Amino acid sequence: MEKIIDEKKQGTTLVTDVKGDTSRKLYIESYGCQMNFSDSEIVASILTKQGYSTTQDLKEADLVLVNTCSIRDKAEQTVRKRLEKFNAVKRDHNPKMKVGVLGCMAERLKSKFLEEEKIVDMVVGPDAYKDLPNLLEEVDEGRDAVNVVLSKDETYGDIAPVRLGTNGITALVSITRGCDNMCTFCVVPFTRGRERSRDPQSILKEVNDLAAKGYKEITLLGQNVDSYVWYGGGLKKDFEKASEMQKATATSFSELLTLVAEAQPKMRIRFSTSNPQDMTEDVFHVMAAHANICNHIHLPFQSGSDRMLKAMNRQHTAAEYLKLVKRMWEILPNCTISQDIIVGFPGETEEDHNDTLRLMEEVKFIFGYMYKYSERPGTMAARKFEDDIPEATKKRRLVEIVDAQRKHGAYRTQQFVGKTTEVLIERESKKNENEWSGRNEQSIVVVFPKEQYKPGDFVKVKINDCTSATLIGEAVE
Ligand code: 5AD
Ligand code: SF4
Repeated sequence: MEKIIDEKKQGTTLVTDVKGDTSRKLYIESYGCQMNFSDSEIVASILTKQGYSTTQDLKEADLVLVNTCSIRDKAEQTVRKRLEKFNAVKRDHNPKMKVGVLGCMAERLKSKFLEEEKIVDMVVGPDAYKDLPNLLEEVDEGRDAVNVVLSKDETYGDIAPVRLGTNGITALVSITRGCDNMCTFCVVPFTRGRERSRDPQSILKEVNDLAAKGYKEITLLGQNVDSYVWYGGGLKKDFEKASEMQKATATSFSELLTLVAEAQPKMRIRFSTSNPQDMTEDVFHVMAAHANICNHIHLPFQSGSDRMLKAMNRQHTAAEYLKLVKRMWEILPNCTISQDIIVGFPGETEEDHNDTLRLMEEVKFIFGYMYKYSERPGTMAARKFEDDIPEATKKRRLVEIVDAQRKHGAYRTQQFVGKTTEVLIERESKKNENEWSGRNEQSIVVVFPKEQYKPGDFVKVKINDCTSATLIGEAVE
């Protein structure tokens, strides 16, 4: 399977049936990051309590919600096309249908969708989902409904998510919301607000519930998981002001990881996303000490040029990134690492671009997500710099890094050929109905003949062949 995502593939539809006992039907789609998919499960939980059941048939929906992403212009365009489609269905088939936007675009554009464009009935930002019952009442009474207030403490820790699009095997568990890092290109600090961590007890409860339901793997989610901190409160910016007592008893990310891994030693634990400026060595040691924490780190580096990293306000240099990676491999020799890269950031020269290629060559990432810079209104980069790299140059640079990534992916997957690796079966292979597809702990997709196995099984698979992103093998026990 191709691991290099483009926006089209990323805009996956997330629709599933949730049991409900009344007649109102909800159709929900999610775009963008895993956090949005996780948030849609919170939304489904809140609406199930309001008597909604979900449908996969747009035409019969009373309420259509789209959970949106603002990270790049292309992501927003995809959502706009969907909104046009929803409005066409509303016009032609179901005039009573109500349409709502959730997530980052709701937060970024606020009431613009309602007042100027008039293409939705409801706008709800990422921290306002608990207000949905009130907002729906407003809509029922024929009024436009908006809530885009960002919160300093909302983590939805008290809401048990309704698992959507689920295979019953892997689940997302959110541990932090928002981001305080202020990378200059990024809209997230504006759309998702201040960074806050969720009470570890509510995280543990969710993980234990998932284990009891038979889930086999969880991913702890946050924009920046390494800066997780719970000190009785979870607002990151106030941690410094906490009492000595609170600081001494605070839970860090590595401690949370330990708690979760030890609470459910049979479950696989993953986490995402890490950032080099916040990741610390203690996380590597916790990973090394717990066999159930997967040996894979998603560690965006964005650019290999210190000049660009500084302009991006990344708070780390290329050398610091490499030092962290080297330390990781000393402690975790079998760990794979994946990246995010932006090409064509304002002022990026060929030399800067070559620095990125050099850093890639040095690390040889297992896979990555690579993007052309997309100027986001309101960000520091949009205010300070001109988006001056021609589109053709951005395109060419993107092709060059995607090619390099493919080569490095192939180099990494090749190392597994002839070896045996443990796979958690997630689903049928998309390419072959006689094969299962799952991932090993290094987060590499593995396909192999089905035989007597079933989804949710852990299977030892001998690897006979590979592509740049997939291992191909056969079960050996
Ligand atoms: N343009 C292009 N890519 C971006 N990202 C974030 N903001 C932008 C932007 N304005 C990328 C970064 C980040 C990932 C989630 O999206 O690489 O790590
Ligand atoms: Fe955006 Fe940087 Fe925060 Fe990631 S760490 S969400 S790129 S500001």
